[in-house]
Amino acid sequence: MPDWLITGCSQILTLRGPVPRRGRALSQLEIIRDGAILVHQDRIAAVGAKRRIERLPKARHAEKLELGGRVVLPGFVDSHTHLIFPFSRAAEYEQRISGSTYEEIARSGGGIRSTVKHLRSASARVLKARALKNLREFAAHGTTTIEAKSGYGLDWKSELKILEILYDLHQEHPLDIHATFLGAHVVPQEFRRRPEAYVDLLTRRWIPAVATAGLAEFCDVFCDRGAFTVDQSRRILMAGRAGGLVPRIHAEQLAHTGAVRLAIELQAASADHLEKITRGDIQALGLSNVVCTLLPGCCFHLGLKDYAPGRQLIEAGAILGIATDFNPGTSPTLSMTMILSLACTQMRMTPAEAITAATINPAYSLRVHDRVGSLEVGKYADLAAFDVADYREIPYYFGVNLCSLTMKRGAILHMKNL
Ligand code: NIG
Ligand code: FE
Repeated sequence: MPDWLITGCSQILTLRGPVPRRGRALSQLEIIRDGAILVHQDRIAAVGAKRRIERLPKARHAEKLELGGRVVLPGFVDSHTHLIFPFSRAAEYEQRISGSTYEEIARSGGGIRSTVKHLRSASARVLKARALKNLREFAAHGTTTIEAKSGYGLDWKSELKILEILYDLHQEHPLDIHATFLGAHVVPQEFRRRPEAYVDLLTRRWIPAVATAGLAEFCDVFCDRGAFTVDQSRRILMAGRAGGLVPRIHAEQLAHTGAVRLAIELQAASADHLEKITRGDIQALGLSNVVCTLLPGCCFHLGLKDYAPGRQLIEAGAILGIATDFNPGTSPTLSMTMILSLACTQMRMTPAEAITAATINPAYSLRVHDRVGSLEVGKYADLAAFDVADYREIPYYFGVNLCSLTMKRGAILHMKNL
């Protein structure tokens, strides 16, 4: 792998500074104008003003990448995805447009349970090929690290199938994939009349087995109306924690249940969704270390107006993150720039706040902020360049992919019009 001298950057958004970022610090992108980056092997060897970097002895032997005035930032860290699923649910999309709600469709046998049915009969080879294609798209849109959940298997064989695919993909594909066990996505059909028995199975057998096998770093639960109660969720996440799986939680998406309070009680790495939080929740989150991961792609795709209160969370001092929630039911997008656009216009986050929420803060929620999420000497050379001259144009242009370069640990994964 050659060393790279990356020049012609109108702006380098380094994101250097305190981790995690809250309040006013969310706007600190620490921009270098007319800058350059020197990459040695998989790491950033130097970053700063072009004249200084070009004169470094190592820069003379490096291969030059001239970006022609583009904006460079850390590769996006997408901290909430459901990467492994068999196919779309486009028919439900049409049903919703005609007036059915997400929960009505789920109650009549569609929704998560329909994806589960199809995933169980899909081969690992087919699922993996589809995921690989999607990983290439993530990279082509500027994402270099993702979190990925199981949760469309819900029997031991199928959950294991998903986790093993994630493990293989992490070994074989350059993107970093951080696996989360979401056996508690919904109660599967065969346990519908005895949900407690399913929770027992999760806490006594599956979670300890996943933890022992090292197949996941995190444990998640869909704590919501129609899924798991707060008490069930507590048992599930505590079983995960006992095995070293850090808690994450799908919280307050469809109804207010108290899931946020549980996230704080258990010191979860992240509480995700938060569309239905109360003023009290906002204050409590502002005082906690739980990352608030907002997923505006869901409201957009479901055609709902109750976006999570991003602005109020920032004002309360919360640690904000944003993610795609890439999944076939509520958010079929893998574009972090689309999520940035939604964060800005629908949740009144500024472009700078949204970029921080898409890089260093989600890196913190995945516990990888020492390696990724900012462009600093010693960190991985994980970066993306966009064909714009001002970073605010990244969310401003929507529905197009202006990513011209994606680099992961010093290797070029995507290059367009350069
Ligand atoms: O994050 N809320 C639960 N899980 C997904 C939706 C999954 C699905 O509908 O397939 C979400 O929105
Ligand atoms: Fe989700």
